[in-house]
Amino acid sequence: MPERMSIGQARRAEALGRQVLLQGWVRTRRDSKAGFSFLELNDGSCLGNIQVIAPAELDNYESEIKHLTAGASVSIEGVVKESPGKGQATEVEAARVVVHGTADPENYPLQKKRHSFEFLRTIAHLRPRTNTFGAIARVRNCVCNSIHQFFQEEGFLYIHTPVITASDCEGAGEMFQVTTLDLADPPKDGPRVDFSQDFFDRPAYLTVSGQLEAEIFACGLSKAYTFGPTFRAENSNTARHLAEFWMVEPEMAFCNLEDDMALAERLLKRIFADVLEKCPEDMDFFNQRIDKTTIETLRHIVDSQFVRLPYTEAVEILSASGESFEFPVAWGNDLQSEHERFLTEKHFRCPVIVHDYPRTIKPFYMRVNDDGRTVRAMDVLVPKVGEIIGGSQREERLDVLRERMLEQELNPDDYWWYLELRKYGTVPHAGFGLGLERVVQFITGMANIRDVIPFPRTPGSAEF
Ligand code: 4AD
Ligand code: MG
Repeated sequence: MPERMSIGQARRAEALGRQVLLQGWVRTRRDSKAGFSFLELNDGSCLGNIQVIAPAELDNYESEIKHLTAGASVSIEGVVKESPGKGQATEVEAARVVVHGTADPENYPLQKKRHSFEFLRTIAHLRPRTNTFGAIARVRNCVCNSIHQFFQEEGFLYIHTPVITASDCEGAGEMFQVTTLDLADPPKDGPRVDFSQDFFDRPAYLTVSGQLEAEIFACGLSKAYTFGPTFRAENSNTARHLAEFWMVEPEMAFCNLEDDMALAERLLKRIFADVLEKCPEDMDFFNQRIDKTTIETLRHIVDSQFVRLPYTEAVEILSASGESFEFPVAWGNDLQSEHERFLTEKHFRCPVIVHDYPRTIKPFYMRVNDDGRTVRAMDVLVPKVGEIIGGSQREERLDVLRERMLEQELNPDDYWWYLELRKYGTVPHAGFGLGLERVVQFITGMANIRDVIPFPRTPGSAEF
């Protein structure tokens, strides 16, 4: 019986001499005049293909093998041999080739030429079979694994926060509503829709963040993190925004903003170091084909210290920069992507953590500083992508928190449970949210965030 193996395993010298069963999809077929065919086979276990030699003696050689084209699926039994070819240690001499499915070359969309990423987005059901999307899937998987390992080693509990919620964590009103009401004929209470007759007896939404619930667990179990899908109904058609994305949100009791910034820096360095170590072949691919600086940038970040920069100083640097920005720089305005990129790409040339932002531009839950004008917020900014992490120390004083809610026109009664965390055994605590896709985008150098999530959801697009 041949040993079933991944192509990644069969490509290693340790596999030499073994009888193996390999299964995957044909990338190319070449026929030699010497009476055999070469098949390049890929199964997604690694970037590289394995070369299969199919001799003319195989009984389905003329009937099937000589008709194999890109996209066909096959099982191969054979022996792993040393390859005389360059760039590969091994190849497989086939004793049996079973064809599972053909792929008509007249219609199969993935031909050998390079396809644009825009085109590949329209065939998201086939793009995992390309080198780029295979590499992205493996890097994304490595990042997720690294995140879980990091938090487990640091003593955080992985908790699951709800996807459906009645509260708007970010207070920005950018939520997708969840309802079972008949939209053509909703029940009315006067001129308004009567949501007391809806499924949850109230308006409900897809969550924009699991933070508020993560705080509940941190304020009792000390360190918790959540890692799940989040949804934003903001109509921003940019290369950095998705309507559905994955966010990692740690929350720590008895911690302040300095601890929070230190955790964010450790986490990012750990992720980058793991990807460099565990995905060298995929990272070489991105470095050659997508962004020639990515490996060097990641290595540099792993060894460098992130800059910590108060918002007020950031505004001073931007004002004195002499750059002509599209959006005006003034104390009290939020930093725009162009400002964030100037700081990380031109001024400091490394990740920058901007902290202590004006209270008026940040959500209700951030701790107000003694100056009364700023809050203990922090954003981690990186070159190209801009904001990759947003976090804060939380307001733990009941009266100040209630005041901040009113200031932002939120009804404290709707957040009674959140306020009770401050009423009973309140503690200083802090946390942040890391956008998974922004991280994968940064690592791979992919220009558009829609290409680092398997099935992007953006305004006007929810195919697949
Ligand atoms: O800065 P944000 O909005 O922070 C929060 O939601 C906090 N409740 C997190 C917390 O403190 N627990 O989002 C956090 C991160 C951003 O820095 C960005 O990386 C990512 O989530 N993000 C997006 N990623 C893709 N598409 C979008 N529309 C995103 N919005 C935010
Ligand atoms: Mg933010």
